This record gives sequence, structure tokens and C-alpha cells, in this order.
Amino acid sequence: MSVMHFDGRVAIITGAGGGLGRSHALELARRGARIVVNDVGGSLHGDGVSRDAAQGVVDEIAALGGTAVANHDTVATAEGGQAIVQAALDAFGQVDILVNNAGILRDKAFHKMDPHMIDAVVDVHLKGGLFVSQPAFRVMRENGYGRIVNTTSASGLFGNFGQANYGAAKAGLAGLTRVLALEGQAYGIKVNAIAPIAATRMTAGILGELTIRVGPDSVSPVVAYLCHEECAVSGNIYSVAGGRVARIFVAETAGAVLAELTPEEVRDQLVTIESQDGYHLPTSLDAATAIIAEALAESA
Ligand code: NAI
Repeated sequence: MSVMHFDGRVAIITGAGGGLGRSHALELARRGARIVVNDVGGSLHGDGVSRDAAQGVVDEIAALGGTAVANHDTVATAEGGQAIVQAALDAFGQVDILVNNAGILRDKAFHKMDPHMIDAVVDVHLKGGLFVSQPAFRVMRENGYGRIVNTTSASGLFGNFGQANYGAAKAGLAGLTRVLALEGQAYGIKVNAIAPIAATRMTAGILGELTIRVGPDSVSPVVAYLCHEECAVSGNIYSVAGGRVARIFVAETAGAVLAELTPEEVRDQLVTIESQDGYHLPTSLDAATAIIAEALAESA
């Protein structure tokens, strides 16, 4: 079995000054990738800055005999995203891999959430994913090769109390993953997402007995696979925790074509509409539309 190396590859990992990002950076660096360790070095809630977080991981990589540079720009603005990608180009002349991992939390029940809590979380997670991906994607498209891994969450894909801002932003990253996978297809760019669970400062005190089983290093091998040239998938989302890996997908039920266009018919057909027997897995909006057209044609 051949070992998966990243020799000659350059990877940007956002929010890599601690937690999952640090672990991804170490995993890729050990396997030969040159790394841009991006991190603003703020608090869990996104307050403050420190250069120590990113630099500390760069030092760890150097101690392993790897190559890395630190970058302290925020992912949350277009200028920051551009500067992060430019840091990779300045240091290493290329960008092959981007892991969108930076994140903060501002949890609150929705009826109490203030606008700043919404802006801060959407800016870092969702806009951050867009703002760093765009300049990286342009470089990858030009080179005919790229790998992007987004970090989504079960919070947005399945729902979690108190995380309207975070869940909405994380679900947005799942949409970004699907669209970029399609736009990158012809250019050798593969884009996937992980929904991890890991013991980091973000989950301190909430994982209970799982804590010892779900170190960040149990997630990074999956990220490394998705970042590698052998990665065989694009547009997919994987649940990753403690060595368990599963696919999460968006499906559409076979549905019902209403005999009468009335709300009463919707009520009366609800069981059929909801039935998961023979569900579809559309791979794009076009594929989803084709399924609808076929169902309408069949019923005509
Ligand atoms: P963490 O707090 O240890 O790491 C997040 C890193 O992002 C921090 O080092 C922080 O300084 C950095 N960061 C925050 N804002 C930034 C900005 N504007 N620009 C650049 N860097 C910034 O937390 P953890 O758990 O490692 O989180 C990593 C990612 O995984 C996040 O996107 C998080 O939402 C996601 N995630 C984590 C889960 C878990 O169980 N730990 C569950 C689901 C998703």
C-alpha cells in the first residue's frame, strides 16, 4: 500500500493556531506539505489578537523538520482572504490545498441574539469561507489542480439549540462546498467538507465521556485524504469523530404529484411527500430539476 505524501504541495490552513487546524497542519506537514499556518490568535468568541498561536504551530512544524510560515490576517474580510493566499504565493509560489477551518462561537437562544453575534459568526465562518476560497480557487483554476476542505457542522446540518448564527453559517458552507465542487470539476479542483466532533477549546466541558475518544488528531487523517491528489470524491460532506467516518448527504424523497393544487391536497398527501422510500440524491440543481420534470411527465 503506497503512503500518501504531499511533497511539493502547498497548503493553507485557516485557524491553525490551535485545535483542529493545528492538528491538520501537523498532519499535512509531517507528510511533506509546506504550510501557511493562518490564525488571528483571538479568543473563542473572536475577541483580541495574538501572533503567538500561529507562530507556535510554525515552530512545532519546524521542530518536526517541516516547512511552514505564519500568517495573522483575518479570514473575515475580502482583503484578509487575499492576504492569506498572497502569503502562500510569497512564501512558496503556489497554492494547492486550502482547509477552511477558522471559527468562533457566539451562542445564544435566537430571541436573545444581538446583531453583533450574528455578524461576527457569519463573517468568520461563512464569509471567511468565501473570502479565502475565492483567491485560492482562482490560483487553483489557473493551475488545473486544487483541493479545498470546508469545515461545516452538525449544528447547521441537523440543528442545535442556541446556534442560529453558527448553524446558518455552517450550513452555508455546505452549500459553498456543493457549488465549488461543480465549478472546479473541469479544472482538477475537488471540494469537500467535514462535520467534525473533537475535543478542543470550542467543545470544552460539553463532550462528556466522548472527550478522550475524539482528539483533533482523529479528524486530521480524513482531512489529509480529502486534500490529497488521490482523493476520489468531490462535493461530499463527511461526519468525522474519533476515527468514525460517515457520509452526510442531502436527499430528496420521491415525493407526490398533487392531483389537485390545494393546501388540503398537501395535507392529505403529506405521508407520501415525507416517505423516504426510493429517495433521490441529486448531484446538482440541474439533476434535481430533471427529477422533478420526470415526475411531472410520468403523472401527466
Ligand atoms: P478552536 O477555537 O480551537 O480553533 C479555531 C481557530 O480559529 C482558533 O485558533 C481561532 O483563533 C481561529 N480564528 C478565529 N477567528 C479567526 C479569523 N477571523 N481569522 C483567522 N483565524 C481565526 O476550535 P476548533 O474546535 O479547533 O474549531 C475548528 C473548526 O471546526 C471551526 O470552524 C469550528 O466551528 C469547527 N467545528 C468544531 C467542532 C468541534 O467539535 N470542535 C464541531 C464542529 C465544527
